[in-house]
Amino acid sequence: MNRDELLRRATDPRQYDSEALDWPREGMAGTPAMRFFESYLIPEIDRLHARRAIDIGCGTGHLFPLLHAGGAGRVVGVEPSARSAAIARREYPELEVIEAPFQDLGLAREFDLAVAVMSFEHQPDLRAAFEAVGRLLAPGGVFLLVAGDMAFHLSPHFGLPHEHVVLPDGSVLVARTYPHGTICDIVRPPEHYERAGRDAGFALRRRLAMRPTSDLIASDARWAGLERQAIAHLFEFAVADTV
Ligand SMILES: C[S@@+](CC[C@H](N)C(=O)[O-])C[C@H]1O[C@@H](n2cnc3c(N)ncnc32)[C@H](O)[C@@H]1O
Repeated sequence: MNRDELLRRATDPRQYDSEALDWPREGMAGTPAMRFFESYLIPEIDRLHARRAIDIGCGTGHLFPLLHAGGAGRVVGVEPSARSAAIARREYPELEVIEAPFQDLGLAREFDLAVAVMSFEHQPDLRAAFEAVGRLLAPGGVFLLVAGDMAFHLSPHFGLPHEHVVLPDGSVLVARTYPHGTICDIVRPPEHYERAGRDAGFALRRRLAMRPTSDLIASDARWAGLERQAIAHLFEFAVADTV
């Protein structure tokens, strides 16, 4: 794939509706990948105890039980993929699912917590994406962002075929073929997220490297060889004037 085609696919959420990608196989609650993300997010969500939460690119909605248990009486899931949105509605009737890109919402300052897990890999303009999150958050609001690690994404792990194109700003367009299908992403170094967040009016509170957990290694021994490798990063941003 050339650069333009990779970029087009990476930024089109309909890739999650395509026949070539069986996202629910990876993205339903209970899969090793979702348990991995959840194990890092649970302590953060519990600590923040948000009453109104929004999950940006909620996929099948697997974060709903965590956010609800963490104290959120209102949980909104924004998901532009029709297939994933339908699954989220079916699995979690109490989740308020909005089938749209999160930039299109008219929900200004309605949330105490926004969470985005691996959905900023599909945003062409990172600063604009942070600004859109900023508009959703009330004063004192927090944004938890999980984004894939660049070295991990570009390494030839597990023999999964991939192709990539490096962009002038240092981000990389990646198409990787997993057993559940091909996913196109924009992969960025952590500093890009930190800078875009700062430029959009957030303050970075912390950044955590997410390495394979014992549960993930138990699900597939090949993870043991990557024990020390960050797979993703968890960022906690706060609306700057309330840090
Ligand atoms: C890798 S999946 C992750 C899904 C979910 N966050 C999870 O933890 O399983 C990325 C998701 O981002 C969604 N997405 C892409 N662009 C989006 C946008 N502009 N607004 C909201 N969601 C978007 C996709 O539809 C897809 O469901």
